[in-house]
Amino acid sequence: MFVKVNAPKILEGTIRPPGDKSISHRAALLNSISIGTAHVSNFCVGDDRTSMLGCLRALGAEIEAHSGCTVSGAEECFEIKGNGLYSLSEPADVLYAGNSGTTMRLISGLLAGLDFYSVISGDDSLRNRPMLRITSPLAKMGAAIEGRDNGALAPLSFRGGGLEGIEYSMPVASAQLKSCLLIAGLYAEGETTLNQPAESRDHTERMLRSMGGQLKSEGLTLKIQQGELTSTNVSVPCDTSGSAFWLVAACCHPNASIRLENVGINPTRTGMIEVLLAMGANISIQNERMEGGEPVADLIASSSNLECTDISGNLIPRVLDEIPIISLAASHAKGTTTIRDAQELRVKESDRIKATVAGLSKLGADIRETADGMEITGPNDLFGTEVESYGDHRIAMTNAIAGLLAKGDTIIQDAEVASVSYPSFWETIDRLQN
Ligand code: S3P
Repeated sequence: MFVKVNAPKILEGTIRPPGDKSISHRAALLNSISIGTAHVSNFCVGDDRTSMLGCLRALGAEIEAHSGCTVSGAEECFEIKGNGLYSLSEPADVLYAGNSGTTMRLISGLLAGLDFYSVISGDDSLRNRPMLRITSPLAKMGAAIEGRDNGALAPLSFRGGGLEGIEYSMPVASAQLKSCLLIAGLYAEGETTLNQPAESRDHTERMLRSMGGQLKSEGLTLKIQQGELTSTNVSVPCDTSGSAFWLVAACCHPNASIRLENVGINPTRTGMIEVLLAMGANISIQNERMEGGEPVADLIASSSNLECTDISGNLIPRVLDEIPIISLAASHAKGTTTIRDAQELRVKESDRIKATVAGLSKLGADIRETADGMEITGPNDLFGTEVESYGDHRIAMTNAIAGLLAKGDTIIQDAEVASVSYPSFWETIDRLQN
């Protein structure tokens, strides 16, 4: 499927992005192994949700969707009945994580802890993403794991159980790796200690604490003990990463004002708001409140005169998923923006450095690839043309936002990939163009 996008004269509207993908995945997985019944509302939508819920159900988790929930008050809600850490059972077939790295890596922590045989696989993209980062420490904890290329690539097979806590210095600041090992730590005898190189999203830690998990933290070190969890209702905030597209659209369009409601503003995720504010963006944060242990707010963004910035170091894990769309903002900013230390982008759903540079340069941006990032010199006028999605939802959506800013028609090829995280994205694009 391709979609044609044009720049509207005025860009305005109120948008409620879908539920946060990272928080939804954790709420489903952790409640499936907790004791009690939980209601999870505003659950993320899209193919990645299907992958996570499919894997959990194949392991025997009791997850039912219902409407008009009297507990959460939400129209769509998931009821998850948990029976404790050891309630899941050997799956009858290969678990399929689709395109979802979070599903494969978090579920792997679970499979390592459980005393049965299982195999997990995914689509072409996921089967080529690095898994040694999880299989190596899980094997050190005592799980028997095999995978292609000596455990580096999926499919991965597990004979879990009998784990022992280890002290482990994580080679990458990855929330998926951290969460995988924290979940395995729930099953391990003794204490599991993780030393992180830098902070990454902390949704797992917040949720484990709210469920009574034995988790301690000191600086960048986390320690978790074996122990049962208590189910917790979660009202999932709207997706921080999904919001970034609209913030950048509003800041870069000359005649724009967009309001985003109920957006997660967890400080481990809001690097992109900090970056945009440092670039001079007109973004106001209103109605700050807490929901289910996560900070939430309404965001209002409008036309801005952006200046270049530098993005590197410890900021990278806090803006990682937003770097493609921030690069588009940089093409509208005065001066040269430099992005460094972002080599992790090369092992996402696509090589996001190559894919971002290919799309934005074709549209007329002055953007160069470096080994670990990009350099973008602006401001540039963009001109609509045909752009590829590289099988990556965030690249398709970045190119579509570029289309809202470019002169002429922008054709986004394979636009359906947006449905991995944001199935209603094209409807919103359509609404904003009229
Ligand atoms: C995620 C962590 C990040 C992020 C991904 C979601 C999570 O991946 O890019 O989209 O939910 O834990 P890494 O842990 O590989 O950095």
